Amino acid sequence: MHVAMIGTGYVGLVSGACFADFGHIVTCIDKDAGKIERLKSGGIPIYEPGLDKLVAQNVQAGRLFFDTDAAEAVKKADAVFIAVGTPSRRGDGHADLSYVHAAAEEVAKLVDGFTVLVTKSTVPVGTGDEIEAIVKRVRPEADVAVVSNPEFLREGAAIEDFKRPDRVVVGTDDDRAREVMRELYRPLYLNETPILFTGRRTSELIKYAANAFLAMKITFINEVADLCEAVGADVQQVARGIGLDNRIGGKFLHAGPGYGGSCFPKDTLALVQTARQYGAPIDLVETTVKVNDERKKAMAQKVIRAVDGQDLSGRTIGVLGLTFKPNTDDMRDAPSLDIVPALQAAGAKVQAFDPEGHEARQMLADVDFKDSPYDVAEGADALVIITEWDQFRALDLDRIKLLMKRPVMVDLRNIYKPDDMKARGFAYTSVGRPG
Ligand code: UGA
Repeated sequence: MHVAMIGTGYVGLVSGACFADFGHIVTCIDKDAGKIERLKSGGIPIYEPGLDKLVAQNVQAGRLFFDTDAAEAVKKADAVFIAVGTPSRRGDGHADLSYVHAAAEEVAKLVDGFTVLVTKSTVPVGTGDEIEAIVKRVRPEADVAVVSNPEFLREGAAIEDFKRPDRVVVGTDDDRAREVMRELYRPLYLNETPILFTGRRTSELIKYAANAFLAMKITFINEVADLCEAVGADVQQVARGIGLDNRIGGKFLHAGPGYGGSCFPKDTLALVQTARQYGAPIDLVETTVKVNDERKKAMAQKVIRAVDGQDLSGRTIGVLGLTFKPNTDDMRDAPSLDIVPALQAAGAKVQAFDPEGHEARQMLADVDFKDSPYDVAEGADALVIITEWDQFRALDLDRIKLLMKRPVMVDLRNIYKPDDMKARGFAYTSVGRPG
């Protein structure tokens, strides 16, 4: 099959490379000429494990191409994917669909013969109808079926998630489109991955409902963690104890500093807006958004308590991890963006290290960026782990302790054991665990 992928952001690039790896001929298109040039010469604009190799292999095999001009690829395409950004609109939290609409308009002008136009971008319920209307307005005679096919990729594990998904969701009522989508995902079909065909609006809502549910699950365990601290229980054991019940499931029950990233914050807000707009507000999700926002802000207080202070004047706080989670360079809505300024507002001098969080240099002011966890520990009154990069799990703790002014550690990801840390002489605070 021939595929045109509009947008070479995170979703477009991963999906394009994976479809090429399935054996299809894929052209990834982006208006950003610099980005396309970089991709053509083997550079990958984002950090995602394994993506550089996958792109290189498929370019070499003659299945993956990059272009700034959509014309040729769209004309040939059996399926055109729209994978452009849908950021939160400033002010009201609605998803901004201007890029999606512009892409639909451009594709409508270019298609040749029956073409499936697929939204991969996360779009609010009803967007498929809007795209269909745009196509009809721009090219009434175009033979296009508009399909919803949301992605469920996690940053840092995106290739694995694409190739071995729990399910694929396809929203369409068109039989020809169904055949094209089946063919595109054929390798998964052979693996017995469930491919769920639904109506288009249902498929659009599945994406939001999935992300909102996961965000709610994390927020639930975070509140339980606070309760654990109050009553002297251990949240990790509570999570295991409830997670072994198949109806609950053990995943996404890691308590921490609150969820961040490019998806949960944006998608929960957009779902709240859609629900209100249709007169069917979802209180649980509204509360989730509020509780998570407050949590990210409250984490700085935890640090202040741990260093035994009213404020942090004259104190140096070392921060390990700034990205919203490990194995990504993504800083969007990262808890660090709330925690670090709050520590500074309390008077602290902050020194930090993240293996990939280069963007943090633009997003966080007055931070002394260091080159290793040990540089961060040097002279610090407390060390705060915000993101659980693997390299932070294997620190030389004796060395860290010697380097620090005072051996205080606040582990917001529960990567160390309280007993162990106490035995090593640290004043150790974690999330929802006694000790
Ligand atoms: C999320 C979903 O997991 C994907 O299925 C979805 O496709 C994607 O959004 C999207 O809509 O594009 P992602 O944002 O990459 O993926 O990252 P997650 O691994 O889901 O983590 C999100 C946030 O929740 C992170 O800040 C993470 O630290 C936090 N988290 C996650 C917890 O605090 N506890 C957990 O148990 C799990």
